[in-house]
Amino acid sequence: MSQQPTTPTSELKNDRYLRALSKQPVDATPVWMMRQAGRYLPEYKATRAQAGDFMSLCRNAELACEVTMQPLRRFDLDAAILFSDILTIPDAMGLGLYFEAGEGPKFSNPIQSQADVDKIGIPDPEGELQYVMNAVRTIRKELKGEVPLIGFSGSPWTLATYMIEGGSSKAFTKIKKMAFAQPAVLHKLMEKLADSVTSYLNAQIAAGAQSVMIFDTWGGVLSPRDYNEFSLQYMARIVDGLTRHNDGRKVPVTLFTKNGGMWLEDIAATGCDAVGLDWTINIDEARRRIGDKVALQGNMDPSMLYASPQRIEQEVADILASYGQGSGHVFNLGHGIHLDVPPENAGVFIDAVHRLSRPYHR
Ligand code: CP3
Repeated sequence: MSQQPTTPTSELKNDRYLRALSKQPVDATPVWMMRQAGRYLPEYKATRAQAGDFMSLCRNAELACEVTMQPLRRFDLDAAILFSDILTIPDAMGLGLYFEAGEGPKFSNPIQSQADVDKIGIPDPEGELQYVMNAVRTIRKELKGEVPLIGFSGSPWTLATYMIEGGSSKAFTKIKKMAFAQPAVLHKLMEKLADSVTSYLNAQIAAGAQSVMIFDTWGGVLSPRDYNEFSLQYMARIVDGLTRHNDGRKVPVTLFTKNGGMWLEDIAATGCDAVGLDWTINIDEARRRIGDKVALQGNMDPSMLYASPQRIEQEVADILASYGQGSGHVFNLGHGIHLDVPPENAGVFIDAVHRLSRPYHR
C-alpha cells in the first residue's frame, strides 16, 4: 500500500477520555478544558498574530494544528479539540462572519426574513468548509495517537441566534420574535442547520475526529417547551444522523446545553453518549437523575481558576467526591476558560484531577 494510514484509534496511547465516555474502567478521571487553545496562552496570541486574524488562523491547517497542540505541550490533557469555531457554518452559508475588536463575532448579512432563509444552502464540508477538514487531518497526523481528537459544532438553535441577532446578544429578541411570530420560518432555518451540522460533523469524523461535541450555548434562554421545540428536537435529529462507529471504535457524542440542568433527562434521552454540565447543578444530582444511561462531562466554574492552588484543588476534590466511585465522568470546566486566567492555574487544575481521582477508580 502506498498510502500511509493514520494511526487507528485502537492504538491510542491514552484513551481514558473515550473509555470514560463509554463508561469503561479508567485508571484516573480524564480531563480537558473547553477553549483550551486560546488567548490565556501567550503562545496562542503569537500564532494568531502570525496568521493575521482569528479566521485566517482557522483557515490555515498548519497554524490551526499548532494552536491545537499548544495546550497539550503545557498540560497533561486527555484530549485535543479541533481549533476552529462554531460560526464556520453560517460563514459558509454566505452570512459574512467578521470579528470586531473586543465585540465578539458579527455577521454582515444576518437572517431577517423568509427570503433570507430560502436563499441559504447546505454547505459542502469538503467544499466551502474543506479548510476545517484539512485542519482535522493535519491535527490527527500531528497527534500521533497520543490522545483522541474532539470535533465539534454549534447546535442549530445556538447558530441561529448568531445568524438572526447578527452577533452576540443578551435578550435574544430578534430570534424569539421569529420563533413566536413566524415559527414556520424559523423551523425551516433549523432544518437546514440540522442537515448542515449533521454532514459537517460526519465529515469531521471521516477526516479523523474520534468524538464530537455539540455546543448549545444559548439553549438555556428558552422556556422548557420552547427548548424542546427549537433546540433539543434538532439536536436529537443530528444525533440520529451521525456516524457512531469509525475506524473500529465507537465515536461518542456529547451534548452541552449551557444552563440546561433542568432538562438533563430529556438531553440524555436523545441517544447521545454524554451530557455536558455547566456549574449551576451538582454533579451528584445529575448522576442520580440520569442514572447510568450516559456519561457526564463537567463541571467546575471556570472562574475557580482565578483562585489559589489550594482552593482549586479543594474544588476538584469536592466535584470528584460528588460524582463518586467509578467511570463515566470526563472532568471539564462548566464553560470556556477565561482569557485572563494564569496558565499555571490550569496546570494545577489538570494535575489535581489526575492525582485526586485515582481512589475513585480502584
Ligand atoms: O480550544 C478550543 O476549545 C477549540 C476552539 C473553539 C473556539 N470557539 C475558538 C475561538 C471552540 C470549541 C469554540 C466554540 C464556540 N465559538 C462557541 C461554543 C462554546 C462557548 O463558548 O459557548 C461559541 C458560542 C462560539 C462563538 C464565538 N467565537 C464567540 C462568542 C467568540 C468571541 C469570544 C471571545 O472571547 O472574544 C468567538 C471567537 C473565538 N473562537 C476565539 C477562540 C479562541 C477568540 C478569538 C480570538 O480573538 O483569538
